[in-house]
Order: sequence, then structure tokens, then C-alpha cells
Amino acid sequence: MVKTFFLGVLVTILGAAACIYVLLARGVIPAGADSGPLPLERWAARLSLRATLATDSPKIPNPVPLTDANLIAGIQLFGRHCAICHGTAAGDASASPIAKGEYPRPPQLATDGVEDDPMGWTYWKIDHGIRWTGMPSWKATLSDQQMWTLALFLKNMNKLSPAAAQAWQAVTNTPSPAGAPAAPGNSSIQGSPSGSSGS
Ligand code: HEC
Repeated sequence: MVKTFFLGVLVTILGAAACIYVLLARGVIPAGADSGPLPLERWAARLSLRATLATDSPKIPNPVPLTDANLIAGIQLFGRHCAICHGTAAGDASASPIAKGEYPRPPQLATDGVEDDPMGWTYWKIDHGIRWTGMPSWKATLSDQQMWTLALFLKNMNKLSPAAAQAWQAVTNTPSPAGAPAAPGNSSIQGSPSGSSGS
């Protein structure tokens, strides 16, 4: 009796695994970034993120104090590393080509921000990135202090002081040409207006 029961369970599990294999191997589950999440995928991703934040995110107060200078430092870091995906003060209107093609779409934080989240959550997301999304982990690039500085800005981005607001308005999301120095001869690839000088 017990033996038959376990045999039944085993056959069911193997059957389900075979169905999943067939769905994947025949391309029924889409591999493109433009096809949108499957219902279960979004649910699993959110559930896992929420549980991980509850246990793993730092519970200490932000060690970077709320000052104009720190907000502006956060804005500059954001302009350099994040605006390409998360936009500028112009919100959705400033979504870059990368932001438009990512899956899931990165929130344009000026209009769809994280001011209500604890800063420890935002710090954790910057530090570790978010699995199943295009949100990178920044631990190889930014220091702890820089990540807390970004979390400070994101927490306060809807109530910036005039000086910080001015710095935020100045952020653009076009990659800086300084990041891609034009070697003579490949200026046409860079799309540089001074392209003719190389030939
Ligand atoms: C390559 C694109 C990309 C870059 C660059 C990027 N992110 Fe993200 N980020 C994403 C995506 C996509 C998500 C959405 C994840 C989701 O749907 O849950 C995200 C989510 C987030 C969230 C959570 C938003 C929410 O509503 O919970 C925060 C906070 C965040 N990013 C901060 C940053 C910061 C700060 C930087 C720069 C250091 C940065 N991101 C750089 C793609 C990016």
C-alpha cells in the first residue's frame, strides 16, 4: 500500500519534470527579453526578494548623515552609474534606450521611487543587485559609503533642498563621452561630430 503510494508520487514528479523539459526544449517558454514575465516568475521573484530583504538587509541607521553635500554626492553617483537605467528628474520622459529594452523595465525613480522603503533595503539592492532582473550588483564597483550615499539620495529625492534639487535637475542619462575616449580613426563609430578629422 505504502509502496504503491510512493510509486505514484515518483511517477507524478517524473511526469511533471518531463512536461517542463518538453516546454523548455520546444521553445514554448519564451527566451526573449521582450515577451514579459510568466505569472509564476514574477510571483516567485517578489516572494524571494521580500523574504531575503527581511532577513539580510542591514537594520542599522544610514551612517551617511543627511547634508546637502552628501545628497549632491549621491546625485552625482546616480548620474554616473544609475540614470542610464533609472532615468533623471524628468522621469518616464527620460527613459534611455537601455531602460526601454530591459526586462523587467527598470523603474524611472523620479516618478516611481523608493522613498517609502527603509534605506537598508535600498542599500541591500544596490549591494547585491536583484536576481531575475537587470539590476546589477554594485559591490565590485562602489564602496559601502557610496552605496549608503545613494540610498540617502533615493530616500530623500522627493524632498531635496534647493541646492540638491538644482544638482538633480542637471543630471542627464546620456553616457558621458569621457567614458569612451575617441581614438583617431574610429570616430565614426563613436558618432562624434568631429569625425572628419581622422581621415
Ligand atoms: C542595467 C540597468 C540598471 C542599472 C545600471 C541600475 N539598475 Fe537598479 N534596477 C534595474 C532593474 C531592471 C530594476 C527592477 C527590478 C524589479 O523589477 O524588481 C532595478 C531596481 C532597482 C531598485 C529597486 C526599485 C524598487 O522599486 O524596489 C533600486 C533602489 C535600484 N534599482 C537602484 C539602483 C541604483 C542606485 C543604481 C546605480 C548604482 C542602479 N539601480 C543601477 C536596472 C538597473
